[in-house]
Amino acid sequence: MGARLAGIGTSLPEKVLTNDDLAQMMDTSDEWIRERTGIRERRIGLPTSSLGIESGRAAIDMAGLDPTDIDLLILSTTTPDQRVPGTAAVIHAELGLDCGAFDLNAACAGFTYGWVVAHSMLDAPGGPRRVLLVGADALSPITDWEDRGTAILFSDGGGAVVLEHTDDDTLLGWDLGADGNHRRLLMGDHDSKITMEGREVFKVAVRAVTGSVLTALDRAGMGPGDVDVLLPHQANIRIIEAICKRTGIPFERSYNTIEHTGNNSSGTIPLAMAKAHAEGALQPGAIVVMTGFGAGMSWATTVSRW
Ligand code: UT7
Repeated sequence: MGARLAGIGTSLPEKVLTNDDLAQMMDTSDEWIRERTGIRERRIGLPTSSLGIESGRAAIDMAGLDPTDIDLLILSTTTPDQRVPGTAAVIHAELGLDCGAFDLNAACAGFTYGWVVAHSMLDAPGGPRRVLLVGADALSPITDWEDRGTAILFSDGGGAVVLEHTDDDTLLGWDLGADGNHRRLLMGDHDSKITMEGREVFKVAVRAVTGSVLTALDRAGMGPGDVDVLLPHQANIRIIEAICKRTGIPFERSYNTIEHTGNNSSGTIPLAMAKAHAEGALQPGAIVVMTGFGAGMSWATTVSRW
């Protein structure tokens, strides 16, 4: 399956919430949060639609396209603005798109799931030539700001990419996984805040992601040493360190934004991708691994040749 990145954009709310701010609201400290998660500050204050509109517009502009050139919009989110309709409809209208649009909810694995779905659509006979894939989440409205087990992690943010069909093979291997038996470890009911059994989620995440990364690399006929760029979901820097150690991918190859953005679910991987792009790491031919995991539990890994 083949697609090239034609444009990328990001969106973060202006409001910064520091660890010291949180320490005034609950029994925690800057030192504990930094040591246990790698987070110093996070951004909050925009709904999913605004994050998607801003990042989507930037991606389309960078691609030098008109919104009507987009053939399909996929919004990966677990925090739609409303129950009905899907938030893709809001982004669709505000950007002036003229194509199909739908929401995809695989929580923090959503952008990576969306990457596979977008490639499949681009590869389908008669399918779209250009897909706008957005990953955006506003977790702050469903965060319990009295729960130090979750409030220190969650944030709002998003990113978007324009993927264009190419005849080259670029998606070399992938793995999509889920285990619904673990669905209660991380959940939020209608009209209630998110609850999480952090320690359990940590364990399941490290185990599942390690297996998923090695499976996807194997399907691509590659090993950890072939990876030039790792774009991991930004949930906890210790999880990323553990994944690198267990898979054998050097930590220095990972691009991380968690220190300043926290965990904004579907938004973290496109934000990490934008960082890698800005630093010149996404060179033609580079082997790029994306891996996400979260509520469900669900997880997904892709191996792409840039
Ligand atoms: O994106 C979706 C997936 N989500 C995740 O991947 C999150 C995965 N989980 C985690 O990142 C971590 O489990 C947390 C950051 C949520 C918690 O870190 P931990 O190292 O697992 O801490 P813990 O729950 O094992 O607690 C260790 C100690 C406890 O004190 P005692 O019992 O040892 O006295 C906690 O009460 O740290 C205490 N603690 C805190 N202290 C200060 C827990 N949270 C805090 C806090 N500030 N915010």
